Amino acid sequence: MSLKRIKNNWHPIKGEPLTDFDKKILYYQNKGFLVPKRKLIKTPEQIEGIRKSGVVNTGVLNLIAEKIHVGMSTAEIDKLVYDYTVAHGAIPAPLNYEGFPKSVCTSINEVVCHGIPDEKRILKEGDIVNVDVSTILDGYFSDASRMFMVGEVSQECKKLVEVTKECLEIGLEKVKPWGFLGDIGKAIQKHADKHGYSVVRDLCGHGVGLEFHEEPDVEHFAKKSKGMLLVPGMVFTIEPMINMGKYDVYVDDEDGWTIYTDDGLPSAQWEYTLVVTETGTEVLTH
Ligand code: MF3
Ligand code: CO
Repeated sequence: MSLKRIKNNWHPIKGEPLTDFDKKILYYQNKGFLVPKRKLIKTPEQIEGIRKSGVVNTGVLNLIAEKIHVGMSTAEIDKLVYDYTVAHGAIPAPLNYEGFPKSVCTSINEVVCHGIPDEKRILKEGDIVNVDVSTILDGYFSDASRMFMVGEVSQECKKLVEVTKECLEIGLEKVKPWGFLGDIGKAIQKHADKHGYSVVRDLCGHGVGLEFHEEPDVEHFAKKSKGMLLVPGMVFTIEPMINMGKYDVYVDDEDGWTIYTDDGLPSAQWEYTLVVTETGTEVLTH
């Protein structure tokens, strides 16, 4: 007979009595569900710090929304992000993150994510561009991305951008305290499938707040297991990448960052940072 191992992520605090919160989580853990580690539950002060970081992050995206235009280079977007972030007393999280050379990711058309801003890449009519902004303010991290449509965009691309936004909103609706992470991915995949699109599997959302990328991985596709228990105080991103064609992707061998669709068809992505609350969720970045 084999012993099925239960991952004991939740431990009582030594020398302290169990609270009702502890008891609730231990109840799920003892039933064999995956529960978060204690450090993933943010305190109200930490959530306030992440919320403030999110305000700067949203300000950056609003600025880009105002300034983006045909003929602009992605390096100009990078400069706007850097200047605004620093002027607001914050740091762009991507800059020098694991060697990333710029302050923001700009991912155009068949680039799925992690595109590197470049003065030679000029935005042209019909491009769909993901601008992925991440901010550190007073040590707190926030993360969000939006799609921008440059000039007149084909009906096909417009629909991809809109359905991807719907995927994010539908995933968000599934965030409920004492629900499961797997419900988010399942709902997103269902919506993408309905439109004949596919969900990228090799990249996920993630815990965020005290670091750029924390546990858990937030998958945007359905898995058999229901995934981690959602507990008030958890902060994570939902950031579905939806491909018009197949879900396969590859990394650029030269820069080591840019992710492309295998079939060269367009991809879109939208991202929020959110906190699980007692009653549902609060979006901390838009
Ligand atoms: N912002 C991306 C995310 O949503 C991470 C980019 S890592 C970088 O998780 F180094 F490329 F910036
Ligand atoms: Co992210």
